[in-house]
Amino acid sequence: MSEISFDGRVAIVTGAGAGLGKTYALELAKKGAKVVVNDLGGARDGSGASTKAADEVVDEIKAAGGDAAANYDSVATKEGGANIVKTAVDAFGKVDIVINNAGILRDKSIVKMSDDEWDLVLAVHLKGAFYVTQPAFAIMKENAYGRIVNTASGAGLYGNFGQINYASAKMGLVGMMHSIHTEGAKYNIKCNTIAPIAASRLTEDVMPPEIFEKLDPKFVTPLVTYLVSEDNQDSGMIFNCAAGWFSRTAVMCGTGTFIGDGKRDITAEEIKDAWGDVTSLDDIKVLNNVNDSFGYLAKIFS
Ligand code: NAI
Repeated sequence: MSEISFDGRVAIVTGAGAGLGKTYALELAKKGAKVVVNDLGGARDGSGASTKAADEVVDEIKAAGGDAAANYDSVATKEGGANIVKTAVDAFGKVDIVINNAGILRDKSIVKMSDDEWDLVLAVHLKGAFYVTQPAFAIMKENAYGRIVNTASGAGLYGNFGQINYASAKMGLVGMMHSIHTEGAKYNIKCNTIAPIAASRLTEDVMPPEIFEKLDPKFVTPLVTYLVSEDNQDSGMIFNCAAGWFSRTAVMCGTGTFIGDGKRDITAEEIKDAWGDVTSLDDIKVLNNVNDSFGYLAKIFS
């Protein structure tokens, strides 16, 4: 088995001061990458800030003989994102890898959710990934090389009670991935998304202790490490990962059915009658791009 190496590569890991992000930063550095360890150092709900979390991870990387630079900006502002990328360029000359990992929680059920709770969670997860990726993408495009991982969640992919802000942001990251995948294709920029489950401060009070114990973040790290390596040639994919379980998941399209001829009106009653065919997942396919969905309309457009 050939060893995966990050010699000569520069990585940005957001929210790398703790939890999953910390494991990515340590592993990439161990395998030769120069790493920007970004972390705001705030509380689980996004309040507060501290340099301690990022500094400790940088110290740990350096003590093990690796190379790293700390950054304490919030990903949630355009200036913060720009400065995170600038930290990489100033310290190491470029950016090859971005892992959009920084995250917070402000859970509430739909009716109780405040605008502030909605806005901050969207700002950190969704805008944050964009604010870091946009300036990084410009550099990757110049260098015709890039590996990006977005962090979604089963809450967004499949649903969860009390997380409408978080679920919306996380599914937004899947849409963002599809765009990066499409626009990055000709520049050798690959973007994939993970939906992890891991023991961290985000999950410590929502999981029973016996389950929490088995979900060490270290079981997610190898997938992310592979996805951001040169060896990985796949892009636009979504993966579940937890406790050593790795599985691809996808937004898919059924064959469906055709009603009418593209000229006559279609009635709601016809939809009702055809409901079984409309909702069928037979012959389900992953589409590579929205244009692929036009293939299903061939009957009308040919
Ligand atoms: P964590 O709380 O241990 O780590 C998140 C890190 O992000 C913290 O160190 C925090 O200071 C940092 N951070 C928060 N806001 C920031 C900001 N505005 N700018 C820069 N850094 C910021 O949480 P964990 O579990 O390691 O989460 C990592 C990612 O994985 C998050 O995006 C989370 O939503 C996602 N995730 C985690 C799951 C789990 O089971 N732990 C499940 C699904 C998704």
